Amino acid sequence: MTKQTIRVELTSAKKPKPDPNQLAFGRVFTDHMFVMDYAADQGWFDPRIIPYQAVSLDPAAMVYHYGQTVFEGLKAYVTNSDQVLLFRPDKNMERLNKSNDRICIPQIDEEQVLEGLKQLIAIDKDWIPKAEGTSLYIRPFIIATEPFLGVAASHTYKLFIILSPVGSYYKEGIKPVKIAVESEFVRAVRGGTGNAKTAGNYASSLKAQQIAEERGFSQVLWLDGIKKKYIEEVGSMNIFFKINGEIITPMLNGSILEGITRNSVLNLLEHWGVPVTERKISVDEVIQAHKDGILEEAFGTGTAAVISPVGELIWQDENLIINHGETGEIAKKLYNTITGIQKGTEPDPFGWTTEVASLSESK
Ligand code: COI
Repeated sequence: MTKQTIRVELTSAKKPKPDPNQLAFGRVFTDHMFVMDYAADQGWFDPRIIPYQAVSLDPAAMVYHYGQTVFEGLKAYVTNSDQVLLFRPDKNMERLNKSNDRICIPQIDEEQVLEGLKQLIAIDKDWIPKAEGTSLYIRPFIIATEPFLGVAASHTYKLFIILSPVGSYYKEGIKPVKIAVESEFVRAVRGGTGNAKTAGNYASSLKAQQIAEERGFSQVLWLDGIKKKYIEEVGSMNIFFKINGEIITPMLNGSILEGITRNSVLNLLEHWGVPVTERKISVDEVIQAHKDGILEEAFGTGTAAVISPVGELIWQDENLIINHGETGEIAKKLYNTITGIQKGTEPDPFGWTTEVASLSESK
């Protein structure tokens, strides 16, 4: 593919930056965004960085009707020496294309989009917060734009990258969250779209999520869609358990999202020599382990959630308090190591971070 130049139009009206100590998740957006178009006869074209703005689409645009859309989530961080780092961005580009394939969206040139992302971050780098637990969340997404009401794949698309300075995903911060194991609704089945990062998976999770919140839980833990027996994921994160010294996470089976933080955790645990297994794990096994006093820890992993300890699980009449509702040793070590690698305070043995800019360079 010939390299296309990224057109840049800078804003003349910069917005005020939020208080870095009061950041929620995903409420504030930076001054610029990356956009690129696709037409069947042109491929992806006109990559550009323009002022952050509303998007005008025909009301018949196919994304509004049949949800043909995919997205990604990654983060940028500032180190103590003012370098701007990205964490494994190539993995997000790779996964975006896997999701594209599942949802019949044309493949992107991963290097081209990554280049656009890096240039966008370099332009809006002053928006990256430095306070503990904060970062710049990056949301690439693609939508189907053809005005047509037939159920088919669109012939035109738009790709966007928007940036949001964020604090913790959960209101609990890094304190343990309470999770309800979902017994009625299901998120995905094998052969469905569960392993693609597409809006429909999240829309279909809302009902159970709402009910769980009304009962005082942060999120739901999904079970497999057929037997409602095996543990899958938490919707915004993958899940890990520590049982009798062994760390277990559900194996990738086609309906679970292939988390990049999940993969990083597996790599780190192996690197540390901690026994870790990817396999089927049933909710009954977790309950039995709790009864036997060997359910030592549970934690979720995700870009937004980072490492999120689970202090309590509820399943029908069973209420499982895990590790006295406290953060476990492994979750703490993983959180410190991963955020340390991301912020450049810990060694990066796998070469996961990429420098994209420096805050001390003038624009
Ligand atoms: C992420 O962790 O980046 C996600 O995409 C989860 C999300 C739904 C906030």
